[in-house]
Amino acid sequence: MAKRGEAAEAAAVEFARAFETRLGPGRLRRRERLAPYVNWRVGGPAEWFFIARTPADLLAAVRVAREARLPVTVLGYGANVLVSDAGIPGLVILNRTEGVAISGAEIRAESGANLVALARRACEAGIAGFEFLIGIPGTLGGAIVGNAGTREEWIGERVLEVEAVDDRGEVVVWPASQLDFGYRRSRFQRTSDVVLAARLRGYRASRSDIEARMQQMLEARKHQPSGPSTGSVFKNPPGDYAGRLIEACGLKGYRLGGAQISEKHANFILNVGGATAREIRALIELAKAAVRDRFGILLEEEIRYLGTWDT
Ligand code: EPU
Repeated sequence: MAKRGEAAEAAAVEFARAFETRLGPGRLRRRERLAPYVNWRVGGPAEWFFIARTPADLLAAVRVAREARLPVTVLGYGANVLVSDAGIPGLVILNRTEGVAISGAEIRAESGANLVALARRACEAGIAGFEFLIGIPGTLGGAIVGNAGTREEWIGERVLEVEAVDDRGEVVVWPASQLDFGYRRSRFQRTSDVVLAARLRGYRASRSDIEARMQQMLEARKHQPSGPSTGSVFKNPPGDYAGRLIEACGLKGYRLGGAQISEKHANFILNVGGATAREIRALIELAKAAVRDRFGILLEEEIRYLGTWDT
């Protein structure tokens, strides 16, 4: 046992050294608490933690971790993830690569770009088609992986191509036609590729029209809870709405410790103070079981579970 501990510590020292050599000293942190970085404000520590500010940072960090055979997890704003109380093994990279360049009706953006900022930049440049992003609290990379959007529009429709680093550390450019975009679905959910950047296309329109549409989008979200949340917890099942089904089970406002099914919208779960990841997950399971028992419908999570779970 002592031997194994020593070997693990030697590997850790070696990884930290290799990381510093490639990315500079003092940038890699050990056992960083993740709760402050995710919207639900719960979750244990990252074994290793790094903030990537440039695409070169992001690429090099992924490569060093892969060479050391460490799992890599990329976090944007933690807007669609539940991090376990035990935390995440391996390297967690907080993606803050935020570059955006515009040419004609095309936008090239790095994967850490803020979606709300992207919607505003597109508007200023007179590019329509990105208004729906105004109400979505995440990064472009996360949006591409989950094909985020509203019910009518989603990011996949605007993507021309995506640059990603694959599990061998190689950069690959994927045309949209090969990305298998569907309702809250993309090929990146089935691979360990890390999205680096994307080329997107909108269409020309007047700024005032774009602003008016953004305003409409914000109005449409008024019945959803405000404040840090992960948005919809479940995907809508075909022909129905997760929120309607959970409400029909009498679960609106139901509370488990610090986790509560929103009183405003039953497909949202809020941390109303001091929730743990375990409580949020238990509430998700409870809603799922109730809908299955009452309607025979198996709800599927839209959020993703990260870290080690003992379930
Ligand atoms: N409803 C209820 N009770 C509730 C909540 C909703 O009966 O507690 C009913 C509403 O009355 C409405 C229907 O369910 O008839 C749909 O509700 P809503 O308009 O709020 O939209 P949604 O289907 O719940 C989807 C997306 C949202 C997106 C909205 C608007 C999914 C899983 N969610 O929600 O996206 O903002 O449409 O386009 O597709 C997200 O994915 O994180 C997200 C917030």
